[in-house]
Amino acid sequence: MPASDHRPAAQIPGGAVFPHRHLTGIAGLKPHQILFLLDEAEQWVDANRAHAKPDKRLAGLTQINAFFENSTRTLLSFEIAGKRLGADVVNMHAAQSSVKKGETLIDTAVTLNAMRADVIVIRHGSSGAVQLIATKVDCPVLNAGDGWHEHPTQALLDALTIRRRRGSIAGQRVVICGDILHSRVARSNMLALTALAAEVRVCGPATLMPAAIERMGVTPFADFDTALDGADVVMMLRLQNERMSGAFIPSTREYHLRYGLTDERLARAKPDALVMHPGPMNRGVEITSSVADHPERSAITEQVEMGVAVRMACLDVLTRRARGVEGWA
Ligand code: NCD
Repeated sequence: MPASDHRPAAQIPGGAVFPHRHLTGIAGLKPHQILFLLDEAEQWVDANRAHAKPDKRLAGLTQINAFFENSTRTLLSFEIAGKRLGADVVNMHAAQSSVKKGETLIDTAVTLNAMRADVIVIRHGSSGAVQLIATKVDCPVLNAGDGWHEHPTQALLDALTIRRRRGSIAGQRVVICGDILHSRVARSNMLALTALAAEVRVCGPATLMPAAIERMGVTPFADFDTALDGADVVMMLRLQNERMSGAFIPSTREYHLRYGLTDERLARAKPDALVMHPGPMNRGVEITSSVADHPERSAITEQVEMGVAVRMACLDVLTRRARGVEGWA
């Protein structure tokens, strides 16, 4: 573990370890608070690998996972994380909920609150929906992805994966390639990685690149081969077809030719560069199977593993106040 990226909680000025009630995004987190969550997650990586007995620190607490948008790995990951900490985990799928009967988001939030949830995890298709719910409930709220906005636990698990595999985050050249415009994963990653002093390059067709992206402290590239030069990490993104109205690219074949990560392209990055993808992958579009399944270079399944550890850390830290445990300001 790199000493440079590590700062024990006790050294944080004023003892304010994690002063936030909710985790709605990476924006608003200070670099040492991001590192604190990564450091907290390390113990859960070890415990999960050792098949340690479940730690019951969230026993008696009710965790509601309210998912208004489809999800496989994020929902499962939050469910497993809560259960490993002893919480009573309840999943609410919007497809089967009163949302489909026309209930407003605020009424849903008030209902969840009246059931005395101790922590609510929300995924929603609208940017800002999680923030709105956070103002209506009495318990901590965790953003599991809201529209085009943020997906903070994804960025934390990506940062943890990079730190463990590359030894540090600071100074790493990270290329994020794909649908930057519609991707909450890209946004949260740009915020987290620049906060932790990585050199971040973003790449994709002009139609999928937000205007004035340089203001986020990243460098945009239209040409993937140029962007890959000397890369330490290559993070591929899915085309968010469900968030597009109209055509943003001529065809997926054309897209693959220009922006697909193939073995030949990967050779432009550093010889030991890491390949990442948040999933779900569209094999043959943004990434070929031989790259995605590369035994040494691909960190894609490790990202899933880190996801459980990071979510255990977030659930633990955000419920400390209610449990009367130190670790919040
Ligand atoms: C991402 C998401 O839902 O934002 N997936 C995930 O959480 N692992 C990325 C995507 O949908 O492409």
